[in-house]
Amino acid sequence: MADSPNCDLKSLSPLQLFERVTEQGEKVRALKAGKAPKDEIEAAVRMLLSLKLLYKTTTGQDYQAGLPPRDLVLINNGTSKEEDEDFVDPWTVQTSNAKGVDYDKLIVRFGSSKIDTDLINRIERATGQKPHRFLRRGIFFSHRDMDQILDAYENKKSFYLYTGRGPSSQAMHVGHLIPFIFTKWLQEVFDVPLVVQLTDDEKYLWKDLTIEKSYEYARENAKDIIACGFDINKTFIFSDLDYLGTSTGFYKNIVKVQKHVTFNQVKGIFGFTDSDCIGKISFPAIQAAPSFSSSFPQIFNGKENIQCLIPCAIDQDPYFRMTRDVAPRIGQPKPALLHSVFFPALQGAQTKMSASDPNSSIFLTDTPKQIKTKINKHAFSGGRDTIEEHRKYGGNCDVDVSFMYLTFFLEDDDRLEQLKQAYTSGELLTGELKKVLIETLQPLIAAHQERRKQVTDEMVKQFMTPRKLAFEF
Ligand code: TRP
Repeated sequence: MADSPNCDLKSLSPLQLFERVTEQGEKVRALKAGKAPKDEIEAAVRMLLSLKLLYKTTTGQDYQAGLPPRDLVLINNGTSKEEDEDFVDPWTVQTSNAKGVDYDKLIVRFGSSKIDTDLINRIERATGQKPHRFLRRGIFFSHRDMDQILDAYENKKSFYLYTGRGPSSQAMHVGHLIPFIFTKWLQEVFDVPLVVQLTDDEKYLWKDLTIEKSYEYARENAKDIIACGFDINKTFIFSDLDYLGTSTGFYKNIVKVQKHVTFNQVKGIFGFTDSDCIGKISFPAIQAAPSFSSSFPQIFNGKENIQCLIPCAIDQDPYFRMTRDVAPRIGQPKPALLHSVFFPALQGAQTKMSASDPNSSIFLTDTPKQIKTKINKHAFSGGRDTIEEHRKYGGNCDVDVSFMYLTFFLEDDDRLEQLKQAYTSGELLTGELKKVLIETLQPLIAAHQERRKQVTDEMVKQFMTPRKLAFEF
């Protein structure tokens, strides 16, 4: 049939399909403008309509001129009801499910790989260390090419770690620490260099912030990052606003990435529109560039081919899918990735925490009393309405935020399992579970505050000075 899209079209990617619809729309316009015969115009319009329909069934989105398909928007939970869909991108995380985002579906949707027991065992064998609780408990749950990093490591080939933080405010909360706690462990067990990008430029572009403020927040946040215990001889922390101007290696890679990614691609990946400022549109290249060792000639002695491993929350993956896509085209190795789940807000796992809502999170500056009040007052409970019901039916750990937080922070596996059983059976009440969490977080936050106090401006300066680290390349 001439007026239905042929089978070949079904094999097109969403972006190619988008371009095909656009092309057909232009054809229809040209035919109309050129006063073509009526049936020719009608045939072209029918073709356009079926293309649009195919586009909709393929992408789950309506065709909109000038707006390429979004890659990551819809993670369909198996039904077509809108409220059943998870939404994940670098700026928004939304799900209707109280258990949080369906991470197995996210793996399929993003095309990454699950961190399974085999991989965890392999990490244990390679490092000779007990796997971190974030690995044991599926908090870092997904990866790209981690087996390649391990192959290289077992063959005595080094790699480096890259992670980052967007300094949008002075106040960091416990959720922000997750990638850093894990990165510190990785640095220790693998003994490799680490670079930390502070994207003060990004926050200036996205938020209502002056350049000076975001630059200042970068330095403040650096203190919290340093307080996680990174080795000063093995770690380079940089602010984009500073480092971009002083490093030719870094800027060269940014420009290379910029040359190889089109506007249509970033529209598709990040959902940018024609009215976004050009700073946002080119920013992904700046987050991509630290994935290449040539961005840090002072650390890698100018070597271009040192592999990079990026621990980050899964919402940052779009940046690095783009990076992995361009890497071979600019003659660089693709970075490997380790992805974490989101840290839930106190109010529930439907969304990640927000630094702008003081009650949605536990901040690194909270006092023991604030921690106690916030947890008692705001932590969403999977317990029953009355003690009688709770004793009879038990609580639900899958939606209970205090229990979720304990899976992040309570080191002892046996204790965690006991708590789970006691809560599920109704033996342990919500107030008692909350008490365990309060007693876990209070000393942890106090210790962090103590370490942060020890971080001097001089140390910040040293961490942030481009220099050779304690490794030979
Ligand atoms: N964009 C990230 C944020 O807003 C910051 C960031 C930059 C990052 N580079 C990174 C995070 C690498 C993880 C890994 O927080």
